[in-house]
Amino acid sequence: MNDKERVAHHAAQQIKEGMLVGLGTGSTANYFIEELARRRREEGLRVSVVSSSVVSAIKAQSLSLPLLGIETINRIDVYVDGADEVTPDLTLLKGRGFDLVREKLLARAADQFWVLIDPSKRVDRIGANYPIPIEVMPFAWQMVKRNLELLGGRGDLRQTANKDGLVMTSYGSLVLDMVFDAVLDSRTLNNLLNNTPGVVEHGIFRNLASVVLCVIDGQVVEQRTC
Ligand code: A5P
Repeated sequence: MNDKERVAHHAAQQIKEGMLVGLGTGSTANYFIEELARRRREEGLRVSVVSSSVVSAIKAQSLSLPLLGIETINRIDVYVDGADEVTPDLTLLKGRGFDLVREKLLARAADQFWVLIDPSKRVDRIGANYPIPIEVMPFAWQMVKRNLELLGGRGDLRQTANKDGLVMTSYGSLVLDMVFDAVLDSRTLNNLLNNTPGVVEHGIFRNLASVVLCVIDGQVVEQRTC
């Protein structure tokens, strides 16, 4: 069992009867979805789920998890997802997938947001390893890009894996992947991006994680505060 699988199984064991669970997106979230489905199948665990992306919705359906439409709910018990970066104060960078709006909605709607990582995701500052994903309205991308460049940002629209087109989110946004100077801390950057017209959503998740679960030397360790 690898670290992602181990932490995902640990999280799935904490899910209680009757919970409404938000499903994240990515390889770690996939392990969680599979283990949750196994518990439902083999242990009769009664849960409902809501997905953060089309990808995780399809996965949940294929495993016969009872899936609710996100438009039918206004809160959930717990949202369980991975992250690309996590700082000591539990600020996250997310968004290698394409559904930032749904991910942040679920993180905010959840009583608890459990973040599952392996040690490679730990960083001193947001943006240390990855650019910041920024969803933009298609007609606004050039204005948004210029505004971000005036703040010192560098980057461009995200391309498809084989570089023959642009990535588009499930709801028709484009994605700018932008790198900023280390002098802009995540709090400042979060505020600046929240206040940039044309930005639909971005990958900095501040004050949303309830707990980060990380595997260290084969053991799951919980971090709730810095
Ligand atoms: C989804 O948009 C992302 O934020 C993922 O949660 C993140 O990329 C983690 O993915 P892995 O679990 O595959 O590392």
